[in-house]
Amino acid sequence: METKPKIVVPKIIVIDDERNITFVIQAMLERAGFQALVFNSSEQALRAIDAENPQVIITDLYMPGPGGMEILEYCQKHFPRVPVVVITAYGTVESAVSALKRGAFDYITKPFDQAELLSVVQKAVLTFAQREKEPIAITEAVPQKTASSLTGASAGMQEVFKIIAKIANSPTTVLITGESGTGKELVAYEIHRNSSRVKKPFIKINCAAIPATLIESELFGYEKGAFTGAVTSKPGRFELAHEGTLFLDEVAEMPLEMQVKLLRILQEQEFERVGGVHTLKVDARIIAATNKDLEQEVKSGKLREDLFYRLNVFPIHLPALRERKEDIELLVKGFVQQFNLKLKKNISSIEPNCLDAIRAYAWPGNIRQLENAIERMILMAEGNVLLTKDLPEEVLVALGDRLPQQGESTGFKETVKRQTQFLERDLIEKALSETEGNVTRAAEKLGLSRKGLQIKMKDLGLNK
Ligand SMILES: Nc1ncnc2c1ncn2[C@@H]1O[C@H](COP(=O)(O)OP(=O)(O)OP(=O)(O)O)[C@@H](O)[C@H]1O
Ligand SMILES: [Mg+2]
Repeated sequence: METKPKIVVPKIIVIDDERNITFVIQAMLERAGFQALVFNSSEQALRAIDAENPQVIITDLYMPGPGGMEILEYCQKHFPRVPVVVITAYGTVESAVSALKRGAFDYITKPFDQAELLSVVQKAVLTFAQREKEPIAITEAVPQKTASSLTGASAGMQEVFKIIAKIANSPTTVLITGESGTGKELVAYEIHRNSSRVKKPFIKINCAAIPATLIESELFGYEKGAFTGAVTSKPGRFELAHEGTLFLDEVAEMPLEMQVKLLRILQEQEFERVGGVHTLKVDARIIAATNKDLEQEVKSGKLREDLFYRLNVFPIHLPALRERKEDIELLVKGFVQQFNLKLKKNISSIEPNCLDAIRAYAWPGNIRQLENAIERMILMAEGNVLLTKDLPEEVLVALGDRLPQQGESTGFKETVKRQTQFLERDLIEKALSETEGNVTRAAEKLGLSRKGLQIKMKDLGLNK
């Protein structure tokens, strides 16, 4: 089959609650060869911006729900490179001016003059392309670090923050799950820090790091003479965590016979020191963490089912970093600041290609791996800019030819490639939604073979 020539079309989001206005703008933009994505609800628009990656946003100022200023604010925070053009009615230019003061790119007045609209949009598209090539400043606009420096802008992390705020003060047992390096320990500490127990100890025990034979005496303490070498008596971590928080890390690694004892503590808050006769009572809030799938561990007999239910009272799951790429820029900026201080460096910006590469990589070791990578890059950096070439070997190798190449023509090539992908993705998603996910019919609509469409979908990471 003959392949149609690919057209590069900048994507522009248009937001106005009045349908006839969006209709007119859309028609003008499309006639001029732009792709216009229209929203008549600002709430819907806000939800869509992340996924759509527009080059330019045009928004009305006054709408029911969030208005143009809120859209502007959101974009400045999350997509500072996307120019926002505001629409203003004839005679209300003052509001447009105040939008300009807050960083809007330009304004257009109703009723629209086609030439004026197109000239503003063209300038905005060029500005976007320009901004994409500029190094992104790191030193400004980094949010205030909290004591625990738990950062996150993604919906997933916002949800985690909400849960933390909600449960911090209750005595409930919390179970934190998530892959290695996703921040389980940091979240455990954040819960403690936000609770009324904050002035009392946060005690940690890593069940994987302590030999099975020592876990019991570590957790419960021992009396003098309980075993050879017990020359004095010693409190265990449970006692030390009295009125505070006990963090049981890698809880799935606990030996089965210890699990019985742990269960008793969780149920009755009572235990005896090893070799002790007195029953001790403690009030410690338990937070457990694991990177294992505990239901699987129960099935395979490594974890007692009753203990699982006791621990799983309030589960918090931390998404992998590759599932919350919106956090990456914030995390990178935070780590750069942190290591600038530690390594006495003065990195002030990052090459956009480099940030894109960091976003594209899957980070199997999650935030810990990213943190280490940034530290190494800062150590290596010769100037004040973090460069793609300084990325760790494993990232460069994994990205291979998806990596933007250096050189002056790459800005253009990369832009064309990305815009083509935007376009392809849109067309495919539209066809799929019109055929309710039927790949064969969607392929027909697009003039592709079924196989061809499947390959494209795989390339673009589109799942049915
Ligand atoms: N949201 C975050 N913001 C900033 N730093 C983070 C965040 N999450 C994790 N980190 C940092 O990443 C590193 C790993 O975090 P942490 O030790 O809490 O992960 P973990 O899930 O307990 O890992 P593991 O399963 O390997 O024990 C730490 O240095 C931590 O400070
Ligand atoms: Mg940990």
